[in-house]
Amino acid sequence: MSLTLENITMNAAPAAPAVFEFLDSTHRDIMAQLIQLSPLIDAIESEGLNAANRDKVRKILHFFNTEGRQHHLDEEKHIFPALLSSQDETVVRTIQRLMQDHGWLEENWFQIAPSLDAAANGNLWFDTRELRHAFDVFEALYLDHIMLEESVAYPEARKRLQAHDRAGMGREMAERRSKTNRRSGDSNA
Ligand SMILES: [Fe+2]
Ligand SMILES: [Fe+2]
Repeated sequence: MSLTLENITMNAAPAAPAVFEFLDSTHRDIMAQLIQLSPLIDAIESEGLNAANRDKVRKILHFFNTEGRQHHLDEEKHIFPALLSSQDETVVRTIQRLMQDHGWLEENWFQIAPSLDAAANGNLWFDTRELRHAFDVFEALYLDHIMLEESVAYPEARKRLQAHDRAGMGREMAERRSKTNRRSGDSNA
């Protein structure tokens, strides 16, 4: 079961590593979503848009529209800024690349989401070969991005961010999700 921000915020004095555990856990959730998409495209091609396939599409769409975007905001607000002031050129260049990746991932997602939205609503107007190609690009960039974050950005941020910074980060991350959910009236995880 995934770690949630409630685990962090329910605790009056969050454990210092909790924010990074949550970020790592979200990476595992992202990868769990990514590995479902290619078999799902296979299933749509062979079985069509039955109720089970539409439900799986809906969940993937929901994940990347909500938690996927929140995760990028978590990093852009709480992880990357502190590292951009690093004296280490490699770290700075890596963070610049990761920020650029978020833009590319969003563009890739814009090529995928309309087809998934159509599929969730039972419409098969899109070309599954084009969807598969767009998804291959999205998946490769995402996996590369996560590997770079876990090998460079997160270890560097762990060294720099103190326990009180992390507690504040956890609260802000939870508050932002709570506001977004209230605005959208969406309480699904
Ligand atoms: Fe990222
Ligand atoms: Fe990430």
